[in-house]
Amino acid sequence: MNFGEILKGKEAEGKEKHVPVIEVDKGRGEKGADIIRVIVGKDVPHPNTTEHHICWIELYGVKKDGQVVEIGRANFAPVYTNPNVRFQVPVGEFKAFYALEYCNIHGVWENCIRVEGGE
Ligand SMILES: [Fe+2]
Repeated sequence: MNFGEILKGKEAEGKEKHVPVIEVDKGRGEKGADIIRVIVGKDVPHPNTTEHHICWIELYGVKKDGQVVEIGRANFAPVYTNPNVRFQVPVGEFKAFYALEYCNIHGVWENCIRVEGGE
């Protein structure tokens, strides 16, 4: 038994979309900083009610030497906001990014991307 057993990914997607989409926007932040954006429900919005909503998103980065860094976490109040968050990150220092998100009905979902120059 391990934590990975409860993580869901693209293969588990149904009508509602839960997999967090990770996008890199190089040089688009303040003073030319890079941006990593994480969005749940980019193409098909996820329900956003008190009874059923995305509670949080977490973003982790893996540095070129393999060190795992927790970059940030965003908690969402249902109804008043939506799960679309941006982190200002020096993308060139990393080889991959991993995102998690939690839906209060459908559980914990994951996604990851390799970035330019990564292995
Ligand atoms: Fe859901």
